[in-house]
Amino acid sequence: MNTFTVQPGGQLSGRARVPGDKSISHRAIMLGALAEGETRVTGFLEGADCIATLEAFRAMGVAIERTGPGDVRIQGAGVHGLKAPAAALDMGNSGTAMRLLCGVLAGQVFDSELIGDRSLSGRPMRRVTDPLAHMGAHIDTSEAGTPPLRVHGGAPLRGTDHVLKVASAQVKSALLLAGLWADGRTCVTEPAPTRDHTERMLAGFGYRVERDGPRTCVEGGGRLVASPVDVPADISSAAFFLVGASIATGSRMRLEHVGINPTRTGVIDILRLMGAEIRVLDQREAGGEPVADLEVEAATLKGIQIPEHLVPLAIDEFPAIFVAAACAEGETVLTGAEELRVKESDRIQVMADGLAALGVDCAVQPDGIRIQGGDGFTGGEVDSHGDHRIAMSFAMAGLRARAPIRIRDCANVGTSFPGFVALAREAGLQLEAA
Ligand code: S3P
Repeated sequence: MNTFTVQPGGQLSGRARVPGDKSISHRAIMLGALAEGETRVTGFLEGADCIATLEAFRAMGVAIERTGPGDVRIQGAGVHGLKAPAAALDMGNSGTAMRLLCGVLAGQVFDSELIGDRSLSGRPMRRVTDPLAHMGAHIDTSEAGTPPLRVHGGAPLRGTDHVLKVASAQVKSALLLAGLWADGRTCVTEPAPTRDHTERMLAGFGYRVERDGPRTCVEGGGRLVASPVDVPADISSAAFFLVGASIATGSRMRLEHVGINPTRTGVIDILRLMGAEIRVLDQREAGGEPVADLEVEAATLKGIQIPEHLVPLAIDEFPAIFVAAACAEGETVLTGAEELRVKESDRIQVMADGLAALGVDCAVQPDGIRIQGGDGFTGGEVDSHGDHRIAMSFAMAGLRARAPIRIRDCANVGTSFPGFVALAREAGLQLEAA
């Protein structure tokens, strides 16, 4: 399933529930493992990233059973119940798993090691290990500040009052999680709002979380009480269909039970600014998170200057947004998005190379890109560089292509969106995987 081929044209229609939210699924395993009692998770994302988190906690002695599709039961070990793993913990492709676990492991009495695949092994980790060291943790990285990470257990942690340099929910979460084992208060101030699933779920598990604007604090020494988690569909996965249906004439789709936490809905705001027709229907709450059905239909898109305050709120959706921009009238300009360069791939460069290969005029900048919109894509061949979101974004480009598009290195689609090919075909994309 390494290469995708998408035939040109078509439209998207029908209803779909995309798989569970990746960020929430990771956190459900982590907090469930640290809680007292049994946590039942429904709608869990059975993608490779979240399975890596699940296996890591199993390796630390937590009983976790997969009881059905998306159904997981965790017998919580309590905040002090984790055991030393027998081998290095392999986080695969997942930056979230590695960075959040780093915060958890910093508070343990045992030594541990975190490793990952080629992509993860090149990603910056000092953004978590430096502030954790300030709390008293001992963590070794490679010379370049990348994995493997060796966490030396038994170091007493003290609370901190940390101001984040980059708007990163992973760093914020790692510090707050380490704060559970720290002496005193751990406070994190973020430069711009980022996803707040950790804060919401800690509170849902009975942990006191103080939030005051950009500042969030926890006091060490508390306990977590098991609580059911209903994971909504991932807006980051829904985003491919929001874009696909927007760019393909005649399309109309309903995406069901999608998480619409306001720290995640930047993609809706950006696409609407471009002229997209997206309706948010039946808003409700599930497990402490807002959810809704999203209805989208084809629209004439126009190029925009993307407001910088929306960047952290749409951080994972830019590959898909770039595809929309290539189909819009006029130029789309993104700035203030240098973080895209340190995701699963350098998403600015890899997307620019792919867009250029498909006949789109674009210019790369250190912190963003300018994309000249037009009449879609020529056919051709692009390389996703093993980046799941880039592979799925270029699959949607097929809807507005004039010849087939071949996308190489797509196996990692399974990290976040198992079943993508079947679901996309069902919706109308003429996609084959081989
Ligand atoms: C995530 C936070 C974001 C995002 C990632 C998931 C999380 O990363 O890109 O896919 O679950 O906390 P950063 O916090 O590094 O921006």
